[in-house]
Parts: sequence; C-alpha cells; structure tokens
Amino acid sequence: MQETISVLGGSQTKFGELWGYDLKELIDEAVADAIRSAGIMPTDIDAIVVANMMGSDVNGQGHLGAYASSILPHHPPALRVEAACASGGVAIHTACALLESNRAGTVLVVGAEKLTDASNEDITKAIMSAGDNERDSASGLTFPGIFGLVANRYMYEHGLTRDQLSLVSALHHKNAVTNPYAQFHKEIAPEVISTSALVADPLRLLDCSPISDGAAAVILSTTKSSPVQLLASHVANDHISLADRTSVTSFMTTRNAMERALEEANVKREDIDVIELHDCFSIAALIHMEDMGFAEAGRGIELYQEPRLAVNPSGGLKACGHPIGATGVKQIVDCWKQLTKKAPNQTKDATVALAHNIGGVAATCALHILATNA
Ligand code: COA
Repeated sequence: MQETISVLGGSQTKFGELWGYDLKELIDEAVADAIRSAGIMPTDIDAIVVANMMGSDVNGQGHLGAYASSILPHHPPALRVEAACASGGVAIHTACALLESNRAGTVLVVGAEKLTDASNEDITKAIMSAGDNERDSASGLTFPGIFGLVANRYMYEHGLTRDQLSLVSALHHKNAVTNPYAQFHKEIAPEVISTSALVADPLRLLDCSPISDGAAAVILSTTKSSPVQLLASHVANDHISLADRTSVTSFMTTRNAMERALEEANVKREDIDVIELHDCFSIAALIHMEDMGFAEAGRGIELYQEPRLAVNPSGGLKACGHPIGATGVKQIVDCWKQLTKKAPNQTKDATVALAHNIGGVAATCALHILATNA
C-alpha cells in the first residue's frame, strides 16, 4: 500500500429476513454503529463509498451514495460501487484508492442489500445479471445452476463425493452458532446436508448461501491510527461468461489477486491465521482454498476433514447470510474483530487475516489482507 491504512472500526446489522427494516434503515444502523466503534465524530469522515447491487431494481432506490451522505451532518462526497457479490470488496478497494491518493484521510465504506421483500424468483433473476445476459442467462442458467455445473465437473475431475462436500456447510454452520449477527445459529450434521432438498444437482438447499437482508460498515483512515492495518487490497477480473473460461474448477481471479496481495502485504500464506472466504455455495469454498494455495487442486476437502486453519469462523455466507452488497464489507468487519479479539468465535493469537470476496463466477475477485501490530 502507498499509505498506511488503519481500520478504525466496523459494524454490521444482523443478517437475515429483516421485515422491520428498509434498505435505508439498514444503512443508518450500520453507519451509526461503525462511527461509534471507531470512536470518531461523523464530521471526521471525508468521503463515503456505498456497496450495493440491487437497490435500483429491487427496492426502487438508487443514488445510495447521496443517501449515505445525507445522513451525516456535513454531507461528504459519496459514490456507489457495484460489482455483483463482490461489491463490498470492490468498495473497500475504492476507498483505499481515495486514501492512497490523499483525496480523503478518513473514509466510511457501507455495504447494504434488502432482498427478502421480493420473491425468490425475482431475486434469482436479478442475481443472474451478474452473469452474461446473452449467453449464460439466455440459456436458462441461474447461480445455483452454474455452481451445480461447477460441482459436477469438480466431482468428475477430483472424485469428491456428495458426503464429503457436506463437511463444508457443516463447519460453517457450526462456526455461526455463537455469532449473534448470523442468519442461522444451528449446528447441522453432514448427513442432513446431504439429504436436504435438491436445488441444482448435486447442490442441495444446505449447500447454498441464503437470500438475506443486511448491512455492514467500516471506517478506514490514513490520518488516524489503530492497531489494525490493511496490508493489501487487490481486485482481479476475468471473462463474465462461463463459456469463455478455460476451467470451471479453478478461478484465475482468485489466483491473481492472492499472488498480488501476498506480495504487497509482504506476508507468506503460512502467516495467515484466519480467513473469511466467499462460500456462496459449498463447492466454491473448496475451489477458493485451492486457488489461494492452501491446498493442492482437488484436495481442498482435507482442510474440512482435518481443520488446521480458521476458515469462516463467523459462519461465512452459508450461515451468516449473503446480503450481496454487504458481504465483502462484513468480511472486513469480521477480520477486524478477529484481530482486535472481539470475535464471538475468536481464533487464538490471530495477527494476520484475509478476506476473499467474489462477484459472479469469480469474474471479479476482491482480496484484502489485514494485520495487527498490537
Ligand atoms: N440455507 C439454510 N436454510 C435455508 C436456506 C439456505 N440457503 N435458504 C432457505 N433456508 C430455509 C429458510 O429459512 C426456510 O426455513 P423455515 O421453513 O424454517 O422458515 C426454508 O429453508 C425454506 O426457505 P425458502 O426461502 O422457501 O427456500 P427456497 O427454496 O425458496 O430458496 C435457495 C432456497 C437455496 C434456492 C435460495 O436460498 C437461493 O437461491 N440461494 C442462493 C442465492 C444466490 O444465488 N446468491 C448468490 C450467490 S453467487
């Protein structure tokens, strides 16, 4: 990083089916709590970046940068970032650019999405706008369908069994039991996952992240300090259509973002104590761990058979929920909590954390490395 960027604080609303909130109220709550946790005045904020995918289409509310600015007394400059499910991570990256260029000294990043007022059919269609509308959507694919294809191909290439795959969601659900902000707090046995309702063969209900409402916010600064710093921020991109990929069992964007982030942060994989990764579907978690170099191709499942790394101690997308624009910001909040020893499922002696956030079939990957000097 060209500047030392400190994470001053962060917060999230509860994720889930939040009937009592609209999109703006989710933003209000996350922003107020983040400012409180950072111990700053609202007027200390020089700029705002909002992450949101579907406000305009689903909630009839666009122009969210201006909305977020309107809730602060001095109306700082604000913009909205959209990168499908990676909107949150790309918003953090955008904030880093503002800070590194000295356009701002303290930036508020808030991600929010309100999905459960619409039918699942409408949301499934809206999420599919993250794929190629002429080739992928037109052929009838949905995101569960795409990741079903990915899972089938992975099983064919690597011999992964249905029952092995269930270990992924089982661990993420177990991790969320103590997380008060998570959508689900129930331990779920692997055999229950293997026999849950079929969604897109071989993926079942309990392989899928749910449709959720929620918001998260963080405050980043180059002018104020804290014990937690962002050591690296990278975004990588690839073809948006599945049809243009040379592989569907490995994502080039994760590999590229990881290599660049390790170099920028000057840390080794072995230094990373805790990982919040984008488990939109169980199979994706295995692919990401392999692409980030924590396991060889086809052997990601070993990290779930004999866990040796803290992967999604918050519960991840699977159990915390996945309010699209909020997810990438919430991952940074969770990493910050781990590094400041505030996490409900605390990883012992964690000093380096990684947040991995994808959009589409990893056509975008935003990857951040954080560390504590305390
Ligand atoms: N995990 C765990 N439980 C879930 C769940 C999930 N993913 N989705 C729904 N549930 C629960 C609900 O809470 C509900 O429980 P209840 O009966 O006790 O209230 C029950 O399962 C049925 O919920 P419902 O909303 O009717 O499910 P659905 O069949 O309409 O939708 C999915 C289920 C998996 C199809 C939907 O959650 C989905 O599309 N997920 C993927 C979203 C996505 O693509 N995100 C982008 C990723 S790239």
